[in-house]
Amino acid sequence: MHCTRNIYPDLVWVGGNDRRLAMFEGVYSVPDGVSYNSYLLLDDTTVLFDTVDRAVDKVFFENVAYALGDRSLDYIVVSHMEPDHSATLRELVLRYPNAVIVCNQKSFDMMKRFGYVSEACDPYLVKEGDVLRTGHHEFTFVMAPMVHWPEVMMTFDLSTGTLFSADAFGTFGALNGNLFADEVDFMGDYLNEARRYYTNIVGKYGPQVQAVLKKAAKLEIKTICPLHGFVWRRNLGDYIEKYQQWSTYTPEVQGVLIAYASVYGNTENAAEILATKLRERGAHVTMMDVSVKPGSELVAKAFQYSHLVFASTTYNAEIFVRMDEALRDLIAHNIQNRTLAFLENGSWAPTSGKKMKELFASCKNMTIVDPMITVKSALHEDSLAALDTLADALCTTLPIEAPAAAAVPTVSAPAPVAGATDPSALHKLSYGLFVVTTREGDKDNGCITNTAIQVASNPNRIAIAVNKQNYTHDLIARTGLFNVSVLTEDATFDIFKRFGFASGRDTDKFADFAAVKRTANGLLAVTESVNAVFSGHVVEAVDCGSHTLFVADITESETLSKAPSVTYAYYFAHIKPKPAPKTEQKTKWVCKVCGYEYEGEEMPDDYTCPLCKHGKEDFEKVTAEPVKKTTKWVCKVCGYEYEGEELPDDYTCPLCKHGKEDFEKVEG
Ligand code: FEO
Repeated sequence: MHCTRNIYPDLVWVGGNDRRLAMFEGVYSVPDGVSYNSYLLLDDTTVLFDTVDRAVDKVFFENVAYALGDRSLDYIVVSHMEPDHSATLRELVLRYPNAVIVCNQKSFDMMKRFGYVSEACDPYLVKEGDVLRTGHHEFTFVMAPMVHWPEVMMTFDLSTGTLFSADAFGTFGALNGNLFADEVDFMGDYLNEARRYYTNIVGKYGPQVQAVLKKAAKLEIKTICPLHGFVWRRNLGDYIEKYQQWSTYTPEVQGVLIAYASVYGNTENAAEILATKLRERGAHVTMMDVSVKPGSELVAKAFQYSHLVFASTTYNAEIFVRMDEALRDLIAHNIQNRTLAFLENGSWAPTSGKKMKELFASCKNMTIVDPMITVKSALHEDSLAALDTLADALCTTLPIEAPAAAAVPTVSAPAPVAGATDPSALHKLSYGLFVVTTREGDKDNGCITNTAIQVASNPNRIAIAVNKQNYTHDLIARTGLFNVSVLTEDATFDIFKRFGFASGRDTDKFADFAAVKRTANGLLAVTESVNAVFSGHVVEAVDCGSHTLFVADITESETLSKAPSVTYAYYFAHIKPKPAPKTEQKTKWVCKVCGYEYEGEEMPDDYTCPLCKHGKEDFEKVTAEPVKKTTKWVCKVCGYEYEGEELPDDYTCPLCKHGKEDFEKVEG
């Protein structure tokens, strides 16, 4: 029985789904099945876009016959000659002998070699940019060599903006009644299979995919009809963006994939410990046992992650067979632009690490992180330091996430004995003032903090506390990098206004501000009224409630001057502008000739203007407006003033980030 769905009133999906196939192309497991898409256009002339695999030929022919009704089939456009799309072409031609095959020369040559057409076949051969008119539709052809075979071409309907994209934009997985990507949670439920499909089928041909994406960018594409998976009619940009990343070998996740092969569990144990150490340092990490996972999953995950650690036992003086096979498959798919590290195990002659490293020598733009870890039979205490060193080295090139808040002890820990608390005691703590800067992508940002301290000397570490409401906080949490500029006593109030009183979410704090330099980590550092600059790489983030404490290795530091560092007390006494003195209501006499002002309720009759020498008759009495009484709330920590009768309970000082409890109400 036929099973079709309409895409447009005159465009019908006539493909089929296979859920019994064990191995697609004999190598890729498809646990959720696969669809073979074919599309029938019912214009003044009828056009079938590609055929299907033999596995679904029965329903396919029923679909075509049903959708055609009593009409004949006029054209068969062949986009791709791989048999999952062309194996039924021979029978189709027998059933519809008057249909003209539309294809390029390479396709036609392959068609004959496969034996799908006879020598008498007279196709309509097309080239890049040729046009086919069918009545209300006009099609043009876009050659897409090596996406996935050399003869591949796409067809673009200039009338509706529909791109028949061949294998591109396909995915593994049967359709399950959902023809359109917007009928499912594609990014949540299907993206992994789409990535596995892309990376394994055309991952090797990134430059060729890029070439086609550049051509596609010139087309007004509204609908994409691939040969596998869903039809795209909404949010096309989301999927095209994924293709952009995959075809440029750009990692989607800045994190570590540890792929391991372990015979008796000791290599796996070392891999687990490394994963734990990475996670404890805040790195994003995942693991894969290549002995049990199909090679296609390693290819997909390796395209997804930025850092790849391979751990293998040594086997017959070589890489363990499953790891060897998986790595050669990955390398054949042109993997590049990654950071690599290796762990080897061997009871008498460990060599797998060296051999794995050698395999990647032909790959482009790979960064190897040392040390290579060598395990003899099983991991021992004395090997842990090497794993720590590797974890540290990997983390220097990774963004570090803030760990989840620690669980609050509830049972065995004795309750602390509480005494009286005096909030003003906190004001006796001394603080400095600092500009903390960071960067994500092209966005530089910074804020003022009063908390930057050295917390360890071996290794040399500093810590900064940053309020979670600050945009800078989010950037540091995501990138793991910051600079600290230590402000000096000659700092003007302007610098505090620039970095402390606005949000980087809607302002560029560095606009028209030249007193900066870029440090080795690529971040800006403020250099004006600054006596030292530190660059930090976050190794731990502690959730402290309103603030996060970022603990960081110092990766660069420089002394800029001998000027004394500014303290909070100094800032409040000498930098922070004082509130304007209260103005009293006064009566003035203003000279109408020169503007001189005489203050007083009455002016003596014989008064003479000291400037222009005119007499009382030329003065005008002016009574000043009564001064409006204002209420202010002054931050006891930094002196910031908030004007208003009431201060909101959740108010936070924009300068020092202290809350309402640290403000004092002042009637003015
Ligand atoms: Fe779906 Fe390259 O064939």
